[in-house]
Amino acid sequence: MGLMESLKAGTKSLDNMEDLFIEKLKMLYDVEDRLVDALPKMADAAADAQLKRAFDEHAEVSRRQKERLAWCFDWLNVEAETSTCEAIKGMISDGEVIMKADGDPDVKDAALIAAAQGVEHYEIAEYGAARTFASRLGLDDIADLLQQTLDEEAQTDHKLTDLAASRVNPSAQV
Ligand SMILES: [Fe+2]
Repeated sequence: MGLMESLKAGTKSLDNMEDLFIEKLKMLYDVEDRLVDALPKMADAAADAQLKRAFDEHAEVSRRQKERLAWCFDWLNVEAETSTCEAIKGMISDGEVIMKADGDPDVKDAALIAAAQGVEHYEIAEYGAARTFASRLGLDDIADLLQQTLDEEAQTDHKLTDLAASRVNPSAQV
């Protein structure tokens, strides 16, 4: 059982940074795992060709980020397993509602971009915390790896802002 589930069940407490850090990694592993699956569906649902490409590219990036997390587990000698992240589950199910919706394709793309940016911002917050915890634990190599992912998430966020501002929003029905 993951730390978060144990906390919910009242069987564990928050005793040390190492357990907290490992739980964060397991939750991020769950996040990437779900995104590797969700992003190609977002690409299918998107109308704009560049947006489709951006979602497909980020699916590929997420696959590498998941691999990076697997290396972290390896270094720590911890089994690579997921701990359910309720937040990402909720965000993806909101995204699914948008994917299934009818309407103006550009408005739908705008909604998909906003949903994807919500995910990116969440990942930026969580990877930022994980990186800082790694530094606190003296795990500098792992902190560097997490920083690489953090940089990629920020780049994706900027790319989505650019796509929304330059292509999607201007053609959307107001
Ligand atoms: Fe990611």
